[in-house]
Amino acid sequence: MQDTFGNWRSLVEEFGSPLYVYDLDIVEQRIQELKQVLPANSKLFYSLKANPLPAIANAAATAGANLEVSSVNELKVACSLNFPTEKILYTGPGKTNAEIQTAIEAGVNTFSVESWADLACIENNAQKYEQKIRLLLRVNPVTPLQGGLAMSGAPTQFGFEESVLLDGSEKLNQLSSWVELVGYHIYYGTQLDSEDTIVNAVSIAIDCVERLTSKLGFIPQILDLGGGFPWPFANQNQSVSLCNMRDRLEKLLSQRQHSAAAEIWFESGRYITASSGTLIATVLDIKEAKNNSRFVVLDTGINHLGGMSGLRRIPRGYISINNISAEKDSIETDTLKHERLSVVGPLCSPLDCLTSNTDISFSVNIGDIVAIPNVGAYGLTASLVAFLSRPAPIEIALRGGKVVELYTLRTGHERITMQKKESIK
Ligand SMILES: Cc1ncc(COP(=O)(O)O)c(C=O)c1O
Repeated sequence: MQDTFGNWRSLVEEFGSPLYVYDLDIVEQRIQELKQVLPANSKLFYSLKANPLPAIANAAATAGANLEVSSVNELKVACSLNFPTEKILYTGPGKTNAEIQTAIEAGVNTFSVESWADLACIENNAQKYEQKIRLLLRVNPVTPLQGGLAMSGAPTQFGFEESVLLDGSEKLNQLSSWVELVGYHIYYGTQLDSEDTIVNAVSIAIDCVERLTSKLGFIPQILDLGGGFPWPFANQNQSVSLCNMRDRLEKLLSQRQHSAAAEIWFESGRYITASSGTLIATVLDIKEAKNNSRFVVLDTGINHLGGMSGLRRIPRGYISINNISAEKDSIETDTLKHERLSVVGPLCSPLDCLTSNTDISFSVNIGDIVAIPNVGAYGLTASLVAFLSRPAPIEIALRGGKVVELYTLRTGHERITMQKKESIK
């Protein structure tokens, strides 16, 4: 570890502070580990939303993962690696017509479908481009799950409710020959908290698929069962053991009837990249305050790590949304509560706090360099990168402890002309 710390200190000397450092060997190691605990013959996709850094996506692909993308820019990363587009899965709510077109033009042929409108848009474009497109119906099962950020089993914006699919089954029978229903996609949520929770999620997902298959009558070739495989975020906690997961999942999968022949897919972002990333920062100031509290001010904050939503610190309150397209009432929405913390960043906002742990167990002085572990997933790009217009940290990819690639995420406004507007998607 001393060697690693020394290496990080010399990186700060060379490239400045703050810095994100990613160890690509760890990305590959996690993929190998995950494959060992997933059912034999299942396919693993790396979800670029966890970290779209090209070096990381490349390491994941090199280690044998396919790629799951949810935006044109994530797709661009996958394409820049010359990753075969037929191995890319395009997912996510709110896909625009333009992005579906861009994806189809790039050669993507598998989409997860979130709604009837999404389905119609993909189908229209499949016909327009005369390209065969494979569709996974994303389903939000009726059954809730405890132990993670629930994206299914509760009313959410993700996927079809089971009843909505059954009510609309006629539409599924009338699809054009340019699209083929190949399976289902069920994603329960990120950071599922234990092996039991994951097994339970998969069990619920399989029950849901079995129900739908018997009622809708199309035999799935693919079941994308999501993942949500956990890893500690920004702390040194023990990772959750998944050592019996393969056996338990294989047993569940072997009990399938209607969907028994379907290939099994999983998606993972967090588990694959979280442990590869460390945020290195410098202590800029230490301030004493009332009641023995201390504020350690770093040169990094929620503009580089976690952001408000990533750390679940959006202040509880109301926002009003005025629909200006027609005379309608405003909508009021509840948001999450924030907490006061004492390791803070350099932004002019009390929300810029990384931790409330006032009993910091190491002594710190102004000028010290500190490292925040396990931030390779949902770190920089899940943060408020443009807030206060401070530059993003340089991101460094290492292999064998040596720098192999350097990146910078650009923020800041670029003035556009009316002509240029047309080319921006
Ligand atoms: C549909 C889908 N797939 C995969 C992921 C990646 O999840 P994780 O990083 O927990 O593996 C997410 C995260 O929100 C998601 O929404």
